[in-house]
Amino acid sequence: MDAREAIITRRSVREYKDKDIGLSTIEEIIDAGRYAPSAGNIQLWRVIVVKDERVKNKIARLAMKQSWISQAPAVLVVCSNKTTLKSYYGKRADKYAMQTISAAVQNMLIRANSLGVGTCWVDTFESKALKRELRIPEDTNPEVIITLGYSDKKARASLKVDLNKIVYFERWGNLEVENKILKELSSKIKKKINENKKKKKN
Ligand SMILES: Cc1cc2nc3c(=O)[nH]c(=O)nc-3n(C[C@H](O)[C@H](O)[C@H](O)COP(=O)(O)O)c2cc1C
Repeated sequence: MDAREAIITRRSVREYKDKDIGLSTIEEIIDAGRYAPSAGNIQLWRVIVVKDERVKNKIARLAMKQSWISQAPAVLVVCSNKTTLKSYYGKRADKYAMQTISAAVQNMLIRANSLGVGTCWVDTFESKALKRELRIPEDTNPEVIITLGYSDKKARASLKVDLNKIVYFERWGNLEVENKILKELSSKIKKKINENKKKKKN
């Protein structure tokens, strides 16, 4: 599976088969996160791998009772330690940390999809209680939960807004392409959108 396919076929998966996921596959997924860009190359991410049923149940409860979370054979809790980032960037650290963690998470989701592993990005949880439960140190915070597992079900296609509704050229709101290179690019984009629409219909 090439990068484009891994990106466009990824969907949030919330139903998992009763099939375990090996540690080497989990490592492979986390490893992809390590290659994400990070502000100042400060790789603030830390990842807790949870496979224990009791702990998964607790996480599901702390994630606003999203019980399906405990069905996943593995759950990753992606944490950040902002200490170094704060000393370098002061007020900007929170924003940088959020973007850095998100880049790593997205890499992991895409890599997982390329390995046939379903994922869901979960960001609704009681942070303080989760921190206590997983004995996360004071200077570190849980940022994102990722569920991992295999699924029989084809995940529902989520509606994605068309490119021509989100891209402007040279200035906000401008849909006309004046630049020659962009013009060529734009016609390729339109062609791709039409191809995808045709594929969806078939
Ligand atoms: C910041 C963030 C928080 C999210 N939190 C949750 C969550 O708590 N529970 C959940 O089921 N999905 C959660 N999602 C997944 C979104 O619902 C999902 O990505 C969106 O509906 C688009 O569907 P897709 O991932 O299949 O493209 C979250 C996604 C993001 C980016």
